[in-house]
Amino acid sequence: MDAHQEFKSVCDILSVSRQVTVLTGAGISAESGIPTFRGKEGLWKKYRAEELATPTAFIEDPKLVWEWYDWRRGIIGAKKPNPGHDVLAAWEGLFPHFALITQNIDGLHQNAGSKNVIELHGNIWKQRCIEEQTINENHDIPLREIPPHCPLCGALLRPHVVWFGESLDGSVLQRSFLLSSNCDVMLVVGTSAVVQPAASLPLSAAEAGAKIIEINPDPTPLTAHADFSFRAKSGELLPFLDAELRKQLQKRE
Ligand code: OAD
Repeated sequence: MDAHQEFKSVCDILSVSRQVTVLTGAGISAESGIPTFRGKEGLWKKYRAEELATPTAFIEDPKLVWEWYDWRRGIIGAKKPNPGHDVLAAWEGLFPHFALITQNIDGLHQNAGSKNVIELHGNIWKQRCIEEQTINENHDIPLREIPPHCPLCGALLRPHVVWFGESLDGSVLQRSFLLSSNCDVMLVVGTSAVVQPAASLPLSAAEAGAKIIEINPDPTPLTAHADFSFRAKSGELLPFLDAELRKQLQKRE
């Protein structure tokens, strides 16, 4: 099958799908100007994850960790969703059942209009009290206090994100596996598919019989398991896919 035929087949499959589940990674925000983690310009190439994104790093030097998050918030806060985010936001209303699971903490899916976003790794705009575990949202750029403290009890606040060595929220994970193993199609966009447990979600979908569609300029460990794998940028391919899909759906009306 050539790329054009594959594209047509994917539209055919999507046009009759009842449950579509999408997993996104840093690549979907790349065209918005947010650096990914791996790859040539990746964030983990410039910074040692264990010095900044671990519970130990935070205990040892909360100020340094918060300065790094403050810097990242400054970069992310100036960025806008791209057409890839826009399409996924619009798809919430297009399929009988639609789920969007993201590894991203940038909030760009919500800024694009997605209402139900399952955030596997947390959200950079949220802070959590290390004593009481209360969560609040804060969009200050720069932060007024580094490190920030809980307005209720005065304890340290930490970024509400998952760090290396930490477990994901059990209920979020359980819901994500359920939505993956019960979908007709799983679309996997802009992830290197190497970080667990997120990388297992498409595999559980494939095992349960879903079609797996990958969009990524580079091959990943998931590529061999995907029914379709497009070597493309999501901000370019998703709008094409959306336009073609809507044509097909209109023909059927
Ligand atoms: P990575 O940086 O590992 O991978 C980004 C992927 O996006 C790569 O496979 C790129 O080829 C692809 N990509 C780049 N530009 C793209 C574009 N325009 N369109 C589509 N794809 C593009 O990011 P993730 O897979 O999201 O976790 O990383 C997973 C987790 O690793 C992150 O959530 C983070 C990190 O450690 C935590 O911080 C807990």
